[in-house]
Amino acid sequence: MIDRRLSFLKPLEACLLKENPEWSSPLPFEEPPKSNETEEFDLAIPCFSLSKIRRQPPQKCAETIQQQIFAKKDELQIEKVEVLKGYVNIRFNAGTLGHLLFDRIREPLGDGRTALKNEKIVMEFSSPNIAKPFSIGHLRSTNIGASLCRIFTSLGASIVRINHLGDWGTQFGKMITAYKRFGSAEFVKGDPINNLYKLYVEFHEKEKDDPALLDEARDWFVKLEAGDAEAVELWKWFKDVSYHEFKRIYDRLKVDFDYVTGESFYNELMEKTVERLKKANLLKESEGALIVDLEPYGMPACLVRKSDGSTLYATRDLAAAEYRAKTFAPTKFVYVVGSEQILHFRQFFKVLELMGYPWAKDCVHVNFGLIKFPDGKMSTRKGNIILLEDVLDQAEKGALEIVRTKNLEKPEERRLSETEELEVARRVGTGAVIFFDLKAKRTKDVLFDWKDILNFEGDSGPYLQYTIVRQTSLLDRALTEGLKFSKKDIPALKEKEERELARRLLNFPATVEMAAREFEPSIISHELLEIAGVFNRFYMNVPLLKGDENLRAGRLVLVSLTQSVLKFGLSLLGIESPERM
Ligand code: ARG
Repeated sequence: MIDRRLSFLKPLEACLLKENPEWSSPLPFEEPPKSNETEEFDLAIPCFSLSKIRRQPPQKCAETIQQQIFAKKDELQIEKVEVLKGYVNIRFNAGTLGHLLFDRIREPLGDGRTALKNEKIVMEFSSPNIAKPFSIGHLRSTNIGASLCRIFTSLGASIVRINHLGDWGTQFGKMITAYKRFGSAEFVKGDPINNLYKLYVEFHEKEKDDPALLDEARDWFVKLEAGDAEAVELWKWFKDVSYHEFKRIYDRLKVDFDYVTGESFYNELMEKTVERLKKANLLKESEGALIVDLEPYGMPACLVRKSDGSTLYATRDLAAAEYRAKTFAPTKFVYVVGSEQILHFRQFFKVLELMGYPWAKDCVHVNFGLIKFPDGKMSTRKGNIILLEDVLDQAEKGALEIVRTKNLEKPEERRLSETEELEVARRVGTGAVIFFDLKAKRTKDVLFDWKDILNFEGDSGPYLQYTIVRQTSLLDRALTEGLKFSKKDIPALKEKEERELARRLLNFPATVEMAAREFEPSIISHELLEIAGVFNRFYMNVPLLKGDENLRAGRLVLVSLTQSVLKFGLSLLGIESPERM
């Protein structure tokens, strides 16, 4: 993936299109081939598509292209152009790349900042269920969603962030029944979410032997939907105490929402939605319930209203989508929800399409796999759930141990204070969990593994944070030795490591855009690990504090830019970088 907006690529593309009008934009620019020689290229142009159009062997096309470029090489700032196996490989003048790098130190995204300026995206994410603990499963939705919001925003899109709390549905009939049968106000107040959850689990255990419980629960939900005072009061109370605890986690993860409008928010709109479905001739009766038949599309029917008159999850989603379309007129409706709901979203989007909404095509289900624990999947029903807060606490504890050990290895005058240690452990611990979550391709299941998460040498958050801290001390050392850099210190890019690093840094905006296009934060985590890897090779092999002064200053520019890209990239994932550690 090559960022075509890079200013040194534009004239090249224009020139090639003018000389070869049958070829069309965008030209198939690619990453250069990797070679072990010092001679490195910056760009490869495969000539296979041109060869098909021209009915000429690729090698012949490549030779023609090479000659065209060679004739204009000074104007195009090209140092070298070669042909190999149907590819034209190009090396730009080092000065051209160096100039561009310098301008990026404070703005790692360069021109990318406005790439999505015409987009307005409604992002629905997190959406935990009230009266249930915030599980590590909801962590994924929260992290992926919040990260996508930051990615879109950085590219100039405007975002509406919605937390679609699970605060409505038959389970609240169950909750009220459980509370009235087995609970008390004191019991709930003692430890609200956990105790509400205990009642919920108790309900499911007793319901097996006492089917009357289920009828009672159904009645309570019908009452709740009808606005019965006692039911509504209890429900409100459950909701308040739950959100109070969720908020603590959002603060820890530094996640915010523009609207916390759960399913219940759409209650009043539901009747109209059902009306519209009726008018569109989409509703059928089936055993007293109302459904939309989706058999022609190879899917089970979408249940809109139960026989007892109560509405369903899907109905609330339909009403919410109509509301969002009207209120925000977005260019995209994004739902960050686990893969187990793929069918629900296909059904729901299909119904929107059948209702004739042109924006149905702009709805996207950004699904993701499970976080699995070595001892099996956690489940809300059975009660062996793993709590996100425990995970964060444990990560911080683990990080603190490592930070303390490392701290003791330092000379006394450079040690962190106890408060500093705690702050570093907070950033490293939380960052480690977030990075672990956003490292794998989102549709994959991930196996939770403490060793992986806190490994300072592995592909982890702490490894990236540690790289940044090492860069800071390197830049500090250079400064104390009187080495400064300014606008005139354009990186000379002599060595192959610095050239590769330069290319990756310049191409970073393309990475961010690709992550946005594919709703995939892991594209960024992956690239950050690559950049850190290339940087560490550069750091090992290229003298940074010795040798020619101009060369060194230019290399410090490269260090500083690498640092801004790593910091910026981590911030897109929601990870703070410590100053020292
Ligand atoms: N509360 C649901 C759950 O935890 C997720 C809600 C997803 N969003 C939606 N619009 N259906 O399973």
